[in-house]
Amino acid sequence: MNGGTMMILDGKALSAQRVAQLAAEVEDFVADGAAPPHLAAVLIGDDGASKTYVEHKVRKCAAAGFRSTLIERGADTTQEELLEIVEGLNADPMLDGFIVQLPLPAHLDAASVIEAIDPRKDVDGFHPENMGRLALGLDGFVPATPSGIVQMLAHYGIETCGKHAVVIGRSDIVGTPMALLLSRNNAMGNCTVTLCHSRTVNLADEVRRADIVVAAVGRPGTVTADMLKPGATVIDVGITPVEDATAKRGYRLKGDVDFEGAKAVAGAMTPVPGGVGPMTIIGLLENTLKAAKRRT
Ligand code: GUN
Repeated sequence: MNGGTMMILDGKALSAQRVAQLAAEVEDFVADGAAPPHLAAVLIGDDGASKTYVEHKVRKCAAAGFRSTLIERGADTTQEELLEIVEGLNADPMLDGFIVQLPLPAHLDAASVIEAIDPRKDVDGFHPENMGRLALGLDGFVPATPSGIVQMLAHYGIETCGKHAVVIGRSDIVGTPMALLLSRNNAMGNCTVTLCHSRTVNLADEVRRADIVVAAVGRPGTVTADMLKPGATVIDVGITPVEDATAKRGYRLKGDVDFEGAKAVAGAMTPVPGGVGPMTIIGLLENTLKAAKRRT
């Protein structure tokens, strides 16, 4: 239905290119006498996937010439202890930005932890102030995943202005900021946006109207070929581990989109892995460099 011409949106290659550009920018920044940008990540508990993601972020910091600090605490960390860590990081003059990796263990209240982060160091862009700035089109920290996605759209020359975007999933981390970002009046916005979620009555009908689909629910098989408008751009944020005895680690990551079916219909699509995932780290590094450039 797309004449066999689907374009793969290669986040891995684009991310490597952006890391190299960031490394050059950091080199200039440091040559001017500044300390390298410094990011800290707080990891609570022993969720394997979170540990992998955080380690990946730390590795990319090194590749781009950033300093990084990893703060690891056990799953029995209390809310008070975590808030104390956040206060310490807020007050640390040697630190440009930090993130608290989510999800937190169930006994911890993520919303109040995020609210305790100094918005000037909130390089995840999750604090209500940064989310509010995004909603109002004001300068601030844009959450990393939506930021990486619009960069990928821009890089591959995918027009957003006047297009109908359907975002599936309304999480605070991806779906909600993604819908906001695509709807704003800027170069990578100006979409008409539909935000679908668990109570959407007919998901297939909504998705069928989309020029751009962003699937961010974490459930494989959510988007199938029959739901797509021919030529649509499909962005798959899902990364669900599924058992696979042939894979090195015994599992592989599966997106929300039936890639094999959709590739006959979509005009452009991100693979999983190697699509959105590597781009999310770019947004985080960019925000950290931005924070470093705001040092007083
Ligand atoms: N968990 C999944 N994605 C993210 C992210 O971008 N930031 C944080 N802090 N936690 C996450």
